[in-house]
Amino acid sequence: MNTSEFSQAVILVVDDNPTNLKVLCGAIAAAGWEILVATDGESAIEQAEYAHPDLILLDIMMPGIDGFETCQRLKANPDTHDIPILFMTALSDTVDKVRGLSTGAVDYITKPFQTEEVLARVNVHLKLRYLSKKLERQNQELELRVQERTAELAEALENLKQSQLQTVKNEKMSSLGELVAGIAHEINNPLGLVIGNLELMNDYISDFFEHLQLYQHHYSQPTQDIIKHAKKIDVEQTIEDINDSKSSIKIGLERIAKVSNSLRTFANPDISRKEYIDIHECLDSTLIILKHRMKGNEKRADVQVRKDYEQLPYVECYPGEINQVFMNVMTNAIEAFEQFNEDCTNPGEGIEENLLTCSTGYNEDMSHITISIKDNAGGIKPELEDKIFEQFFTTKQGNGNTGLGLSITQEIVEERHQGKVKCISQLGEGTELIIELPIT
Ligand SMILES: Nc1ncnc2c1ncn2[C@@H]1O[C@H](COP(=O)(O)OP(=O)(O)O)[C@@H](O)[C@H]1O
Ligand SMILES: [Mg+2]
Repeated sequence: MNTSEFSQAVILVVDDNPTNLKVLCGAIAAAGWEILVATDGESAIEQAEYAHPDLILLDIMMPGIDGFETCQRLKANPDTHDIPILFMTALSDTVDKVRGLSTGAVDYITKPFQTEEVLARVNVHLKLRYLSKKLERQNQELELRVQERTAELAEALENLKQSQLQTVKNEKMSSLGELVAGIAHEINNPLGLVIGNLELMNDYISDFFEHLQLYQHHYSQPTQDIIKHAKKIDVEQTIEDINDSKSSIKIGLERIAKVSNSLRTFANPDISRKEYIDIHECLDSTLIILKHRMKGNEKRADVQVRKDYEQLPYVECYPGEINQVFMNVMTNAIEAFEQFNEDCTNPGEGIEENLLTCSTGYNEDMSHITISIKDNAGGIKPELEDKIFEQFFTTKQGNGNTGLGLSITQEIVEERHQGKVKCISQLGEGTELIIELPIT
């Protein structure tokens, strides 16, 4: 009659009547199940806790605590609450049956016992218990598998996000780099043309001046027309003005050449190869590119730049990436000045001078060069200091602030160059970003 999966079942029989016990135990033993016996409620609970039977047959009327109380306690105990309980009750006692079921029993068997009926009911409930345990185990396994799969998917998603972000960053950087390098190239060609022609023109103009002087020397008595025209154009003044214009044009052209060179250094298209570079050149070209953002406006004064450079060796870097680092950090400083001046609405409350200090040097054991970019703007709230290097962390609401600047900076410095970046900030005093790059 019993099924192999639960042929090992253990059944606790609780009854104080020796005759009942004898009948039940005989029937259960014949069916092949193991039997435990208790003759009162307290010891039934003790045994149930200790031996974890698969099923309990429980009498109602017993010395000490009765069957209902025993049932309630078993159901309230987390160790025993899931053991199915069958009440044993007189055939006619409907009230007891109802009460027994309402305290948590799954079924009842009636006295006097019909062996066949007892075995049939016990068998059904063992089977139910076996099946529900199996279901529970399967559910747990399933849940575990779902959790594992969810974790795997979350990780895959995170990896995908990271690699997409990296692709976007790389693409943005290289297309920007190409664009800037392209512009620098386009400027350089006509610039060369203008500079070359200007030199020629200077020679021609000098020749003409010389020629004019010769005329003035040998024809000291010019005609009225010549005198009139010379007066009209103010020859002496014109000669002076031409010389002034020549030097202005020269200064202007030199400036264009410098910007264009900086653009080329900055946007070094060969970002995939490490090179030995002059860090000061990188800092300077980034400063030139940011010059337009340092100009003052109605809200704040110009940003003054102080440089404090030490003699440095060339360091091996990806030039485009290092420029991007300087750009990110300096942009943050400029934006901090903007924010700080905006916050100080009362005149005289803000800082006297928006000062950006770029200094370089060495770390203690001279194994790294250090680059410090420091501002005297509003600083960072202490509770945010841990977050600023996180991806997408930003306190700015403007367009184009993605909260990626410092996370990219950290990645470039620490992962791509085995360096270090740290931030020292004092609220209301300013912020210093220190970058260390290894000397190879
Ligand atoms: N020099 C600085 N002064 C004050 N706060 C700064 C400075 N540099 C960075 N921060 C803070 O760190 C945050 C993250 O910077 P960043 O990663 O460059 O993102 P974003 O500039 O797009 O906000 C900024 O939003 C700002 O709150
Ligand atoms: Mg930024």
